[in-house]
Amino acid sequence: MKDNDKTRPVGMMDSGLGGISVLREAVRVLPKEDFVYFGDSVNVPYGTRTTEKVQELTFNVVEKLRQEYNIKAMVIACNTATSASIKALRAHYTDMPIIGIEPAVKPAVICNQGGRIIVMGTPMTMRLENYQRLMNMYKDEAEIVPLTCWGLAEFVEDGIRDHEGLRKFFDENLKPVLTDDTESIVLGCTHYPFLKKELKNYFGDRNILLIDGSKGTSSQLRRRLDEEGLLRDDDHKGEVTFLNSSDDPKMIELSWQLLNMDLD
Ligand code: DGL
Repeated sequence: MKDNDKTRPVGMMDSGLGGISVLREAVRVLPKEDFVYFGDSVNVPYGTRTTEKVQELTFNVVEKLRQEYNIKAMVIACNTATSASIKALRAHYTDMPIIGIEPAVKPAVICNQGGRIIVMGTPMTMRLENYQRLMNMYKDEAEIVPLTCWGLAEFVEDGIRDHEGLRKFFDENLKPVLTDDTESIVLGCTHYPFLKKELKNYFGDRNILLIDGSKGTSSQLRRRLDEEGLLRDDDHKGEVTFLNSSDDPKMIELSWQLLNMDLD
């Protein structure tokens, strides 16, 4: 039976702490809602695993949040888990809205003035059907260059301390595709918005637009809650609960830091 209690929380998950970049926006757009965020930091990265394994891990988290928190909607705040599992999740859980995230190629193409668009994402995101579909849809409208990033999300899980390592990563991976006419970069993994400052430092005085999917995903969450009559309309001040598969208390501490961090 459908539960129409609007006071239930919204569930959100990621392979780790990256999805907090979506949570930041969701909290801003939906200040009355409670959110339960689950970071699967024990199993990060998802992007280099098999599709079946990511599906299994994602289903486990969604089931846990349903059983223990009676969530009214679920946000898969992970491009990788969305690519691997969103269809199966929606087919299985037909009684609640499930919102996913995909690389924000569309907004990048809309803003594009003729320069190159680089799309950064995990190996799984770049390989699977969702991204291939996006690429095909927009391939004639702009020069879109995919950049598969092995190991970049881990810098965020680590608290963004290894500045030298990041610079080396950008030199080895980003520099070869960064042409003079590069106009924007799509941050197609929810960990990457936390690296915006590092990226801007790396670009120096070049003006490259950094685009991510957190706004689109949060507006879609709002829309779906509204459609289902689940949007809170009381005077409640929304709260955030952080959960993590790791029992290291530092992960929860870091989660709060990322929620409140200045990104630009
Ligand atoms: N945050 C995840 C995403 O948006 C990726 C990190 C990982 O590989 O686990 O794709």
